[in-house]
Amino acid sequence: MFFKEKVVWITGASSGIGKALAIEFAKQGADLIISSNNLEDLNFVQKECLGYGVECMVQYLDVTDMDKMQTIVENLVSQFGKIDVLVNNAGISQRSLVEETPLEVDRKIMEIDYFGTIALTKTVLPYMIKNGGGYIAATSSISGKFGFPLRSAYSAAKHALHGFFETLRAETYKQNIKVLIAFPGRIKTDISLHALTKDGTAHGKMDEGQNTGITAEKCAKQYVNAIRKDKKEILIGASELLMVYIHKFLPKLFYKLARKINPT
Ligand SMILES: NC(=O)c1ccc[n+]([C@@H]2O[C@H](COP(=O)([O-])OP(=O)(O)OC[C@H]3O[C@@H](n4cnc5c(N)ncnc54)[C@H](OP(=O)(O)O)[C@@H]3O)[C@@H](O)[C@H]2O)c1
Repeated sequence: MFFKEKVVWITGASSGIGKALAIEFAKQGADLIISSNNLEDLNFVQKECLGYGVECMVQYLDVTDMDKMQTIVENLVSQFGKIDVLVNNAGISQRSLVEETPLEVDRKIMEIDYFGTIALTKTVLPYMIKNGGGYIAATSSISGKFGFPLRSAYSAAKHALHGFFETLRAETYKQNIKVLIAFPGRIKTDISLHALTKDGTAHGKMDEGQNTGITAEKCAKQYVNAIRKDKKEILIGASELLMVYIHKFLPKLFYKLARKINPT
């Protein structure tokens, strides 16, 4: 019941990691605001969370619709009184080569994964500061640690999050804003189905790598624990996390492996 009486807002909560995070936070007593751009799926998640005796409100939010954010945040703060934890989890992946990907697709991925995340963070931040502090998390990816084939814009957006949130952490330390960047490896969700291809349509396939990943529930437990323990970063996954260390300590080997590994 660590999060009892805490208000936790999770974006991208309609499926996968976000849904599992909502349920894990509910188990630990948090009152929830769950968002995405799919009300039908959010209603299912809400039902499950309410079963743990917490409050759970569905808030429609397309993170690219930045003009609406101020009003949405004002309404939520007046309803809940505060936002203690913001988990920026909404995101979309990519399955297309650099040479085949038109700039519109790069921009779309950046809009969702980077600008959507920082726009919401900037909107919530003044309310958290006024309230004496809070916790802001961002779901990056191990593709935010190194580039990987077919994920140029995705990897770029996740790297950009790293720069933004490390800066935020340093700037707001005195205002008691805590920042976690989560770096999942392969988690078994529908992310590869939703990933954008070169023509901006969904990839529509469950990739083999995705299918063999750890469960979203296991990921969510580690993610929520990292927030409880005030960690700055967390890597979540299985053997694929080795790539992070190979990239750091054996870069020549990493560059050989990165061009050989099946990227799907
Ligand atoms: N699964 C992995 O292996 C993995 C690895 C590393 C990082 N991640 C990151 O984990 C996060 C969650 O992904 P997931 O694996 O759980 O995939 P997912 O099942 O596809 O979930 C993505 C979530 O993001 C939401 N979303 C997408 N575009 C949005 C938009 N414009 N506005 C608001 N919400 C939007 C989706 O909502 P709708 O369905 O309602 O559109 C959904 O709730 C992402 O940031 C992803 O990059 C995942």
